Order: sequence, then C-alpha cells, then structure tokens
Amino acid sequence: MVKATFLGHACVLVETEQHAVVIDPFLTGNPKAATKPEDLRVSAVIVTHGHGDHLGDAVDIARRNNCPIIGVFELATYCQQKGAPQVHPLHIGGSYSFPFGRVKLVPAWHGSAFIEQDGTIVYTGNPAGVLLFMDGKTIYHAGDTGLFGDMQLIGQRHPIDLAFLPIGGNFTMDIDDAVEATKLLSPKVVVPMHYGTFPVIEADPQEFAAKVQQVCPSVTVRILAPGESLTL
Ligand code: NI
Ligand code: MN
Repeated sequence: MVKATFLGHACVLVETEQHAVVIDPFLTGNPKAATKPEDLRVSAVIVTHGHGDHLGDAVDIARRNNCPIIGVFELATYCQQKGAPQVHPLHIGGSYSFPFGRVKLVPAWHGSAFIEQDGTIVYTGNPAGVLLFMDGKTIYHAGDTGLFGDMQLIGQRHPIDLAFLPIGGNFTMDIDDAVEATKLLSPKVVVPMHYGTFPVIEADPQEFAAKVQQVCPSVTVRILAPGESLTL
C-alpha cells in the first residue's frame, strides 16, 4: 500500500509500510504548509528544482533524518555545499533504485536557480519532474512545468497510478494546460497542486476537476487539502 499526503503547495509525502519520502519540502514560510520540517521522518528528500518554494527545508530535513537529497547533479551538489549529509545526484532520463524504491527524473520546462539572501543567483541545473516507483505503484510529480507533448511518452513508458500536476498558472501550467497534460499522461488519479499559495497563482481546483471529467472521464481527480492523504 502506498499513501500519498499533500503537505501544501508542491510538497508531497509518499509512504509505504517501511519507508517515507518527501518531495519538494517547502514548509517554512509556506502559508499552506500542513506540517513542520522537524515532524517529518523520511528515508529521502527528492527535490525537483532549485527554486525556494521547492528546495525549501530540504537540507534541514535531510540533516534531521541523516538521509540523502536526490535531485539533478547541480542541485545535489548545491545541497551538499549547504550541509546535506548525503546527496544522490541523478539527471534527466536517469533512474536509480534506492532501498525505498526507484526514482527517475524526467524533463520539466521551467527554470532552476537558487537566489541567495544577498541576491546572488546560483544555477542549480535543469528543472525536473519525478517518477517515483514504490511498492508496485508509479507516482509522477511534475515539479514546476509548462505543458509539453512528451508527457504522453512519460505516461506510455511508465503507466501512472497517481500524478501531481501544477494548475496555478503564471509560473507553470494553468488549469486548461493541466487538463491537456492529464489527457497526455493518462494517470489513474490526478491531484492538482501549486495553486492558491500566493495571489498570483490563484486557481479553482473544482474547475480543474470539472474540466478533467469532461475531457478524460476515465481519470479520477482528487482534490487534497493540505494535510489530506489518499492511498493507492
Ligand atoms: Ni519553480
Ligand atoms: Mn514553484
């Protein structure tokens, strides 16, 4: 059994009987955060890209749990320099089997840099989407991305049980593009994310759900409030 909990914005906790993995743990400073970094017990932290609303508390959580941060090479190296106890660099198209399951990075159309407090911009490599294979289930976390046609290839290569897709627009896909992404990916279940955290990414998840039901009735939409879970 796999349990996925939406922790607000783009943060997702995926748990099995044995393990827990958190993706994009932006909790400190996140008005929608459903937990605190110190309350997470995880085997790994996966980060899709270096923007603050995704990298978030990754290094702090990795230190508390003495676990690796997984991400593209440049981002993993950045995390190592910032004090992560372990990192595992991957890159787009690459995958690796960890004790908790397998992680594969796939493309995302976005940017990726960390802005230091003094304004210095540190390049953190390509942004990525994440495929997470745990307990026989396939979970896709799109990271921040615009719509792209190869989402169809991702869904064909790795039939998706659960997809987390951004719907908030401005920095990522909006509702209509996320509906099209759902069509291309053809997951069993889709959960909208990356909306409502800030005024500029306000979006109505009910509108997304209604449109997905029209365009792809075979896909189940689950709207998760921060802190809510679903099981696969
Ligand atoms: Ni971003
Ligand atoms: Mn973001």
